[in-house]
Amino acid sequence: MRTYKIGVIGGDGTGPEVTLEALKVLNAVERNSDFKTELVHYDIGGERYLKTGEVLPENFAGELRKLDAVLLGAIGHPDVKPGILEKGILLKLRFELDQYINLRPVKLFPNVWTPLKDKMPEHIDFTVVRENTEGLYAGTGGFLKKGTIDEVAVQESVNTRKGVERCLRYAFEYTRKRNKNKTLTLCGKTNVLTYAFDLWERVFNEVGAKDFKDIKRDYAHIDAICMWMVKNPEWFDVIVTDNMFGDIITDLGAMIQGGMGIAAGGNINPEGVSMFEPIGGSAPKYTGQNVINPMAAISAAGMMLEHLGEDKAADRIEKAVMATVTEMPSQSAGKMGFGTTELGDKVAKLV
Ligand code: IPM
Ligand code: MN
Repeated sequence: MRTYKIGVIGGDGTGPEVTLEALKVLNAVERNSDFKTELVHYDIGGERYLKTGEVLPENFAGELRKLDAVLLGAIGHPDVKPGILEKGILLKLRFELDQYINLRPVKLFPNVWTPLKDKMPEHIDFTVVRENTEGLYAGTGGFLKKGTIDEVAVQESVNTRKGVERCLRYAFEYTRKRNKNKTLTLCGKTNVLTYAFDLWERVFNEVGAKDFKDIKRDYAHIDAICMWMVKNPEWFDVIVTDNMFGDIITDLGAMIQGGMGIAAGGNINPEGVSMFEPIGGSAPKYTGQNVINPMAAISAAGMMLEHLGEDKAADRIEKAVMATVTEMPSQSAGKMGFGTTELGDKVAKLV
């Protein structure tokens, strides 16, 4: 029997609660599968930082590299200055583990409320492939004359040929495998960011024309795509974009698919260790109240299994989530009609 070693980082706020439900479902799905998981729990997050002054233990990424995958709850603490945990934990792990893809499906399940009038599940079903290690997130730039009236702050978008190409190739492959409309939309800003997106567009066309003749290439500016995602989400199959634009449009995507309670994502290194997470934050005000929606975390566990090649188990989780959300009057915290743990029980029973 295959055994996967899974790192578990519950993290901050409601992260640990939703992660527990994801593990409950994982455990249930394993019972009728020919694989099992061995969990390694890590106490990482704001509480630990406040207690010890250390954001991450020494060589933590090296530790995670020994695993098959990582399941993450949420990172972010109200008593810690913004940026410290996000950059010191989440972004650091994405970078050090070279998880160069952030894969974020936007899928409206039947009976889930969307703010888009007249849009049904058949209209909202696409995936965003977000570059996850470069762009404005690379952290280059700096201050000049900080604190004076002549202060200058520069933050640069770093786009390497290698980074852009590997992201685009992944997106093309993914579009092929997804086999829906076989259409890949590059989202950029070629009319203003004439260096960065010139590179993206050239590589997109080059790689597409050479190795992915079966995939239709499409392009949309970032501002326009915000419009189309609201007005005509059915136009999209797979969208590929840089780190910052991907961050922004996946929050928009999460909203049109029913909210943060339901949106999951994967930080993927196709050649290394990947990390799966609900894309919402740590929601401190709901911590410990059993009111937060665990569906995103459960779906993240499903994405993890799919990534590990356990397609059948992943499919069972998706079906069980779909059946469970049908019974929920809302996907918003506190209005779900059931508690966090009850929802985990329901999904676990159905897988
Ligand atoms: C996300 C989050 C992170 C990001 C933050 C917490 C650093 O918003 O996963 O989308 O910007 O990537
Ligand atoms: Mn984000």
